[in-house]
Amino acid sequence: MDPSPFRIGLIGCGFMGRAHANAYKRVPDFFDLECRPVLQAVCARDGANAELFARQWGFASIETDWRALVARSDIDAIDIASPNDTHAEIAIAAAEAGKTIFCEKPLARNLAEAEQMTAAVDRAGVRNMVWYNYRRVPAVTLAKQLIDEGRLGRIFHYRAKFLQDWTMAPDLPQGGQALWRLDANVAGSGVTGDLLAHCIDTAQWLIGPIDRLCGMIETFIKERLHQQTGKQEPVGIDDASAFLARFENGALATFEATRYARGHKAQYAFEINGENASLAWDLHDLHRLQFFDHKDDGKLRGWRSIHITDHDHPYMKHWWVPGLQIGYEHTFVHQIGDFFTALSRDELVSPSFRDALATEYVIDAVLKSARSGAWQDVLRRDQQGRETPG
Ligand SMILES: NC(=O)c1ccc[n+]([C@@H]2O[C@H](COP(=O)([O-])OP(=O)(O)OC[C@H]3O[C@@H](n4cnc5c(N)ncnc54)[C@H](O)[C@@H]3O)[C@@H](O)[C@H]2O)c1
Repeated sequence: MDPSPFRIGLIGCGFMGRAHANAYKRVPDFFDLECRPVLQAVCARDGANAELFARQWGFASIETDWRALVARSDIDAIDIASPNDTHAEIAIAAAEAGKTIFCEKPLARNLAEAEQMTAAVDRAGVRNMVWYNYRRVPAVTLAKQLIDEGRLGRIFHYRAKFLQDWTMAPDLPQGGQALWRLDANVAGSGVTGDLLAHCIDTAQWLIGPIDRLCGMIETFIKERLHQQTGKQEPVGIDDASAFLARFENGALATFEATRYARGHKAQYAFEINGENASLAWDLHDLHRLQFFDHKDDGKLRGWRSIHITDHDHPYMKHWWVPGLQIGYEHTFVHQIGDFFTALSRDELVSPSFRDALATEYVIDAVLKSARSGAWQDVLRRDQQGRETPG
């Protein structure tokens, strides 16, 4: 039987618009699916830009207003790949229109928006997914399998960092196309919501909820020219963010993210130490997982660097022959492949909006703690709105 069409309406033609469009195009060639994504429409505010993108990636039509896209009856899923200030309004409207929703991370600019979005998808009962794509790096998925199999035993330490250096120049403006990440009104926060969000999502997925934390943030360059107002304006985002944390399972953790680590472009790395074994992963070497097993014969004991390219490894049977590695863009292919597999089995896929909301609770606690200077419980609300500490 031919795979049934699933019509995508993509919003945003930037970095993530390209990553998602590429994933929709690749997935039917490498995954055996009962559904086939159809590139039905792409939306950008600038029509010429949308036309160009549609031609390059093969979208059948364009829109210049996301409301028109959401209103279309020939769209099954709205994919939000536009800046953070657009996520809540689009997602809530798309939920009310009964669409499946894929949303880029962070779920929202702040906790209030994230809670409203999650309530909206729950109320509407629509399928939803957030693009925390690092879960689908095969080495990271393997780390999850090893932890779930109990190979690390009790976990004592989690260490994560995400380092960049692209905003260090004091004359870099803020706001507008390409630089919206420096404008707090659009981004919500700085590296806490942008980079640490990935570290928090991975960490809670791998070893469980964070209970308590103590954070600090810094804005090194206090004023920047705003591209839209043409004026020198205060910078409202955090340039660097770090926090100490305790997990519910008793593990201690350190998290750090910055855009002021000279020489680092996108170094996301984590290390986990358990009673029996440790593991470590680094985005710069994303196809390797470092693993140390204390149960190994003493003479041979040491860190092993596992080349994640074998058909035994997560996702790798979909790609090339053992020994040949894959890269960053494949994580998006894996995520949409998993979505379609879950859809055909009538199962849910994660991370959902509710999973991404768990990250927002931690982000909110980091920012609150950084402002107060005190330790902060990570408060969460369940589906009934009841507050639960930790
Ligand atoms: N999963 C990841 O690793 C990852 C990586 C980068 C970005 N992101 C997230 O993806 C989202 C987009 O980031 P990006 O790097 O692609 O940004 P970008 O600036 O490269 O692209 C944003 C696009 O959205 C369009 N846009 C802005 N407002 C719009 C509106 N109202 N209607 C329609 N289109 C609009 C812009 O014209 C542009 O084409 C952000 O939420 C960001 O945090 C996630």
